[in-house]
Amino acid sequence: MEGIAVSAIKRQMRVVVVGSGGREHTIIKKIRENPEVTEVFALPGNGGIAMDAICVDIGAKDIEGIVNFAVENRPDYVIVAPDDPLVLGCVDALEKKGFRCFGPRANAAIIEGSKVFSKNLMKKYGIPTAAYETFDDADKALEYLKTAPIPTVVKADGLALGKGVIIAMTREEAYAAVKEIMLDKAFGASGNQIVIEEFMEGPEITVLSFTDGKTVVPMVSSMDHKRAGDNDTGLNTGGMGTIAPNPYYTKEIAEECMEKIFRPTIDALNKESRTFKGCLYFGLMLTKDGPKVVEYNSRFGDPETQVVLPLLESDLLTIMQATTDGTLAETEVKFRDANACCVIMASEGYPVSYEKGFPLLIEDEVKDRVFVAGAKIQDGVLVTNGGRVVGCSGVGETLPEAIRNAYAVVDKVHFKNEYYRHDIGARALKAYK
Ligand code: AMP
Ligand code: GLY
Repeated sequence: MEGIAVSAIKRQMRVVVVGSGGREHTIIKKIRENPEVTEVFALPGNGGIAMDAICVDIGAKDIEGIVNFAVENRPDYVIVAPDDPLVLGCVDALEKKGFRCFGPRANAAIIEGSKVFSKNLMKKYGIPTAAYETFDDADKALEYLKTAPIPTVVKADGLALGKGVIIAMTREEAYAAVKEIMLDKAFGASGNQIVIEEFMEGPEITVLSFTDGKTVVPMVSSMDHKRAGDNDTGLNTGGMGTIAPNPYYTKEIAEECMEKIFRPTIDALNKESRTFKGCLYFGLMLTKDGPKVVEYNSRFGDPETQVVLPLLESDLLTIMQATTDGTLAETEVKFRDANACCVIMASEGYPVSYEKGFPLLIEDEVKDRVFVAGAKIQDGVLVTNGGRVVGCSGVGETLPEAIRNAYAVVDKVHFKNEYYRHDIGARALKAYK
């Protein structure tokens, strides 16, 4: 009977998570570790997330639908995970109705929503990043490219599903990129303006951070593997795997990043009256001139989240609420001194074209360690429903152990056209040597 007495005094939290990918599945599994969480709704979630949350068929960009759902169901907290709803003002709309949310308002999410904005912010406040020019006229951009240093990088201003960045190794490729983005409108209105920037070289590091607008707390660092093929060959993808921590992110580099990048970014946003609360993603490149910002995101990374949160020892929901309430300075944020690896299993042919609808079998013993990104339930059966299907995660005291554990999970997940990289973590292992 003790259970009844305890639950009568226990606080009960009903949480909504907006989004439908592996990142959202990871967040949901983590917040469920908090015993106060009694109910989790995923909007829209996916067939795999349905194992851990009640999925409701409301799209992540349907701000009105999300707000109406909240009004009808009165959740205690709403976590807005993807970029689109944040940039569209989902948090603003929910807050107007009195809901407490995790994530920045639109006027701060613009740090991801507009590359022109973020580059100008960095220039104004002296935050290290690649040298750049911005253009809203294709002819002027093409003229500039006649003499610009090559290789160069052409970026659509707005959100483009992570595909709006073109590394041009030749002048012709740079011209073609401008035409594709500004004239053919490959990314729609996101290409009304572009950034053309200096090509940088060096290892890449992702640092996710919690911030309440006053305090910034970096999480454990990570490394993404963006190319589709082994040995970093093939097309760019949303990410084929991750490891954490990133061996290039030494204590000295971390201190330099805090002093020159993290703290100045939070201060700059405050000075612009765009206080950022939530998870601020720093995409960094370790150049020979020191760490520089490649990009900001206004949210958790995918698949970085799949290696960062498994190492979080403190309670995620408590930290998230501290970012909302402005109490992050007094809140414990502790990570395990261990390593994590996540291997993405995709549909063969991703990121171009691929078949889906194949039965997806996840053996029971690894269910806790599989984050589902692209699956749905069809006639009562879980089937693949995307390019990236699942993330298989492993934790270990050492990186080799984490990698082994992640690939052991891969062996226990089955679908017909499965494709994955065999070398996730290999680049990091070399860095340790
Ligand atoms: P982004 O979406 O801005 O992160 O760009 C996607 C990827 O393109 C990054 O992770 C980098 O690998 C690469 N990239 C972006 N900007 C640059 C740059 N200025 N120099 C070299 N590589 C870049
Ligand atoms: N993994 C890169 C991103 O989330 O944008």
